[in-house]
Amino acid sequence: MARLMSVLLPIVGIAVSLLWAVEAAVTLPKPMKLEWHYYKVHNTCDDAEVYIRHQVTNFWNQDKSITPKLVRLLYSDCFVTGCDGSILLNGANSEKTAAQNRGLGAFVVIDKIKQVLEQYCPGIVSCADILNLATRDALRLAGAPAYPVFTGRRDGMKSTRESVDLPSPSISFDQALAYFQSKGLDLQDMVTLLGGHSMGRTHCRYIEDRLYNYKNTGKQDPSMNSTIANQLRKLCPPRTKNGQSDPLVFLNPQSGSNYRFTNSYYQRINTHEAVLGVDQQLLYGDNSTLELVNEFAAGFEDFRQAFALSMSRMGSINVLTGKEGEIRRNCGYTNANNPNKI
Ligand SMILES: *[C@@H]1O[C@H](CO)[C@@H](O)[C@H](O)[C@H]1NC(C)=O
Ligand SMILES: *[C@@H]1O[C@H](CO)[C@@H](O)[C@H](O)[C@H]1NC(C)=O
Repeated sequence: MARLMSVLLPIVGIAVSLLWAVEAAVTLPKPMKLEWHYYKVHNTCDDAEVYIRHQVTNFWNQDKSITPKLVRLLYSDCFVTGCDGSILLNGANSEKTAAQNRGLGAFVVIDKIKQVLEQYCPGIVSCADILNLATRDALRLAGAPAYPVFTGRRDGMKSTRESVDLPSPSISFDQALAYFQSKGLDLQDMVTLLGGHSMGRTHCRYIEDRLYNYKNTGKQDPSMNSTIANQLRKLCPPRTKNGQSDPLVFLNPQSGSNYRFTNSYYQRINTHEAVLGVDQQLLYGDNSTLELVNEFAAGFEDFRQAFALSMSRMGSINVLTGKEGEIRRNCGYTNANNPNKI
């Protein structure tokens, strides 16, 4: 707890009590340009957040995998050119067509919410805000801490594959930290946000090297627990033929198909049972990293606080506000390119 509190306490922020008011208030610094309940405060779409929560709940009741899909979508949006909804844009060369973004899902959730909001208060609520709010709501349903989402983002008008710089999931600790720092985030944000891998799945191709040929040794990654390595080799047989299938495996077999958000992700790092290389690497970071991993593994409450802070920081990366960007009518198209003009 020592390190976390030293990070949280000096923050002069506003205290906001959480939605669903079941948990204690979290004190968060207000991001520079965003506002708490923007659409209510400006009296432009009072119940926008209620409509979003309702739609997310409907989808989640049908398919719990929307939670990790939305988290991944938000990460892909915010880390590349900022939280401007650019990942949602269609187009032959758009961000969503980049190799790193293959297999993204949950676009249908965002599109449905947008459709509902366009009926209720047309041209008001940005796709970038919808993505941030919907992700929070889906995480909350999966058991993650509710956290305040500041709003007032506007939507970007550009999206190109070339700007997608999302790193491989096998990068080293130092490379991962440098990447997070290049986006204005810090070590605690990285350790915390990687906890999103508490849920969701990955393709076998991203862990093949760890299972069969770590750093061209012809052996498994020595940092991987042999029990889980054996299990994963059964699920991910060696790829010997072109066109062989590339199955999906759970990032955290412990939460698996029940899609519960827990801190077991951190416990599994300590027992060498992380699936992705970048996750297991946290065990080989500096002492502050280890302190955070142990702190989060030991207590959900510390993780909850840190998670609220880091999600808020990620949601503030390079946001567009004021007269920047636009409010899209359809999240898949800029208004100028919208084929239906609605
Ligand atoms: C490997 O995982 C098991 C649980 O599956 C755990 O009991 C054991 O301590 C782990 N081994 C190491 C070296 O972390
Ligand atoms: C890291 O922790 C180890 C063992 O707890 C200690 O010996 C070492 O001095 C620490 N390193 C730093 C840089 O604090």
